[in-house]
Amino acid sequence: MTNILQESQIEQDREPIRMLGISGSLRKASFNTGLLRAAQEIVPDWVDFKIFDIRDIPFYDGDLEAEGDPASVVALKAAIQNAESVVFATPEYNWGTSGVLKNAIDWASRDRTEGSLMGKPVTIIGAGGRAGTARAQMQLLETLGETGSLVMVKPGLQVMAFSDQQFDREGNLIGETTRELLENHLDALVKWTMQIVRPMNSSPTPVRWTRRQRGYRCQTVEATGLPSCDLDSASTYVVRQAHHERIWREN
Ligand SMILES: Cc1cc2nc3c(=O)[nH]c(=O)nc-3n(C[C@H](O)[C@H](O)[C@H](O)COP(=O)(O)O)c2cc1C
Repeated sequence: MTNILQESQIEQDREPIRMLGISGSLRKASFNTGLLRAAQEIVPDWVDFKIFDIRDIPFYDGDLEAEGDPASVVALKAAIQNAESVVFATPEYNWGTSGVLKNAIDWASRDRTEGSLMGKPVTIIGAGGRAGTARAQMQLLETLGETGSLVMVKPGLQVMAFSDQQFDREGNLIGETTRELLENHLDALVKWTMQIVRPMNSSPTPVRWTRRQRGYRCQTVEATGLPSCDLDSASTYVVRQAHHERIWREN
């Protein structure tokens, strides 16, 4: 399958794709924040990848919320609103995600307006012990499901941070295989994002209709060979999930 990150055609045709990375670790030399920094290096110019630091987000408190969102929460919600997709990089603490990340998602989930986590393409990655944060990712998958986020389930990325010297002392990713897997993951996320957020029928790029099924139209963009769907907003969630499953079966 085409590696879209290497497709110069996309660069000419599109506004930059806006992605946001959120790390669940506050540690300076965090492996998970290191994964997000590596993602920033990997993506081409036409992907604008920003990292949001959640360290200033207070504990969720309904009374605090009733007084008006704290500035850090306003900033978090705005960053998510502005992003077309979000990458959550989670550590694993006692088989779960970190408290700070769950807390940030709880705040973010209170925004149900257009552009919030509801209906937002997201993915989960993580670096940790021998399970590569698989158990923390499972927990996060459930949480993000409840927020209405459209989680890209495959390909996954679970990094065993302590083996084979994947990171240096500052938390920078140095493992070449992991870098390749991360690139592959980001490539899939760009496709996942475009399929959901930028239906190709609104693009000036020439398209060719390929099928009509389950009440939505799918087309292939000739420049990229990528499928894209004209989504019915009334049944967005179900349709998107069905579409997601179909795309991955076909690939
Ligand atoms: C309280 C605590 C619990 C942890 N529990 C797990 C665990 O269940 N599984 C695991 O793989 N690593 C566990 N670890 C190790 C973390 O994966 C490791 O500290 C990792 O570096 C954290 O991610 P970071 O580098 O992004 O900060 C735990 C660490 C802490 C501090």
